[in-house]
Amino acid sequence: MMKKLGFLILISITLFLGIGFYNCIEITNYSVHDKALPKGFDGYRVVFLSDLHCKVLGENESKLIRAVDSCDPDIVVFTGDMIDGDHTDISSVRNLFAGLAGKYPMFAVSGNHEKDYPLNYRKLLEYYEEYGVNNLDNESRMLSLNGSHIGIYGLPYQNSYYIYKTSYPPDLSANDFNILLYHDATVFSPISSYGYNLVLSGHTHGGIVRIPFIGGMINNNGSLFSEYDNGMYQINGSTLISNRGIGDSYFPRFYNRSEVVCITLRTDTE
Ligand SMILES: [Fe+2]
Repeated sequence: MMKKLGFLILISITLFLGIGFYNCIEITNYSVHDKALPKGFDGYRVVFLSDLHCKVLGENESKLIRAVDSCDPDIVVFTGDMIDGDHTDISSVRNLFAGLAGKYPMFAVSGNHEKDYPLNYRKLLEYYEEYGVNNLDNESRMLSLNGSHIGIYGLPYQNSYYIYKTSYPPDLSANDFNILLYHDATVFSPISSYGYNLVLSGHTHGGIVRIPFIGGMINNNGSLFSEYDNGMYQINGSTLISNRGIGDSYFPRFYNRSEVVCITLRTDTE
């Protein structure tokens, strides 16, 4: 009897760990409803990738490219930590850009790893040039469709002290609807007062270790059970989508699959 029980416990633990550490691409769909969105952009689709950390997903990044294609996006955005200091070979990023170039306009901001590893970052900037990725660090673009316009802005990663203290945002009055790309979701609270309709962020890796029914446990900065680590949040009329990211740093993901986020913008407020 005790032998049988011991065997059952062993099988259960093995299954729990095996399923937990298993990883594949998970596509998450969101609809963002906002009355401020111009009618011409109703149904506009944004694919949102974050924190690749040079992860290889199929030959020439084919699995990730297929996942993006399956969302049929109008644009693709990247919110930082595409590279890191653990990898000298960053060809996965190049393969990803190569597979998306010419199909979708691409927009990117840098994360903490781009900032910390300048050699790899320099290579990444070359790939931006080569494959037409718009670098939105302290930059913006106006997107136009069906006679309507929206704004897309970017901020490079910075110490959260500056996010709290610096006087943002820029003048957003040129468009009724504005998107911000910023790497770190954990500072959504001050950013929500900047006036952006939609904020897209990552950095948290979904809390890395996600315990079923409890959620993410560890943030990348070492804090436990941090806020805004996964999903959609709304404060001050601003919507955050926090992306769990794709790659790993420090510790492998647990019950936390690599995430490709597909967003559809809607003009109504359902
Ligand atoms: Fe990060």
